[in-house]
Amino acid sequence: MYNIALIAGGDSGEYEVSLRTADNIFQMLDKNLFKPYLIHFKGSEWTWKGNDGSLYPIDKNDFSLKVAGEKITFDIVFIAIHGTPGENGKLQSYLEMLGLPYTGCGSFCSALTFNKYYCNLAVAALGIPIAPSLHFYHTDPVDYAQIEAVCGYPCFVKSCNSGSSVGVTKVHSAEELAGAFAEAFKYDNQLMVEKFVRGREMTCGVTSVYGSVQTLAVTEVVASNEFYDYDAKYSAVGHKLLTPAAIRPEDEALLRKYSECIFHNLDCKGVVRVDFIISEDDGKPYFLEINTIPGQTALSIIPDQVKFKQLDLTDFYTRLAMEALPQS
Ligand SMILES: Nc1ncnc2c1ncn2[C@@H]1O[C@H](COP(=O)(O)OP(=O)(O)O)[C@@H](O)[C@H]1O
Ligand SMILES: [Mg+2]
Repeated sequence: MYNIALIAGGDSGEYEVSLRTADNIFQMLDKNLFKPYLIHFKGSEWTWKGNDGSLYPIDKNDFSLKVAGEKITFDIVFIAIHGTPGENGKLQSYLEMLGLPYTGCGSFCSALTFNKYYCNLAVAALGIPIAPSLHFYHTDPVDYAQIEAVCGYPCFVKSCNSGSSVGVTKVHSAEELAGAFAEAFKYDNQLMVEKFVRGREMTCGVTSVYGSVQTLAVTEVVASNEFYDYDAKYSAVGHKLLTPAAIRPEDEALLRKYSECIFHNLDCKGVVRVDFIISEDDGKPYFLEINTIPGQTALSIIPDQVKFKQLDLTDFYTRLAMEALPQS
């Protein structure tokens, strides 16, 4: 029997989603193999709620609990926090220093992929199309002429280290730039401006838990808002998910190939989701971002893709947890 610390919560706009992701994973975990403890993170408060309802703090020296005089340690940490500190490498770095096995991508991969601009640079180096973009720190002057020349309008302004479409604005003209910059800089000291890619949004799950890197499925995301913004993501009526995406087989094959290539070359582990837009203008799939802790609520894309592949979710989570342990 392995003790699992299933970590949920965190400090981003995806706090609530993380709780639902963790809830679902908790239910799916095989209780004959694992004893899961749901550990709640909010700022520096890391706690476990005992069966009597009282809160027990995690001892951060070794990530343990003390319950009724008895010390509880964990064999595996299962990270289910979207956004900071679970998706950007911070928690991963801490666990690496403690030598505690955890699920999913390592600290470097998490930090690199969480920054949209640096991730784009790494993905472009693999020969995968990305939209033209510019990078600004909050101290940089806004170069309107350069933005017009490189990205044009409409374009997207996004804070580099954020998620859930928080700090993301679709900008229709130069007049809207200042407001979009101010919004993005609320969440980070760097942002990117990206050329608008008109087309259909696709997302591909990739996993290493079956012994080799393989894709799960390609899902089309159809947002009812102007883009896949926060409201569209988290309201049931705001979007439609179509698995498998109704696209040409050669497009699907290319999305799978790109997703596997990114997973392998950026040293991903566990399960991730790679997002693209297939351009209406030139037919090419443009890489958008990688989610290294993708949503796994009962209604999320990854569980849906696992089921679509006729794989068993409990077995999937057993493998994901066991993959964290040092391989003998
Ligand atoms: N360059 C772009 N062209 C078209 N739509 C975009 C572009 N960048 C972002 N979007 C839209 O904004 C959404 C959020 O952007 P994304 O880069 O995925 O950030 P987040 O991490 O916040 O999800 C996307 O799902 C898409 O609908
Ligand atoms: Mg996204």
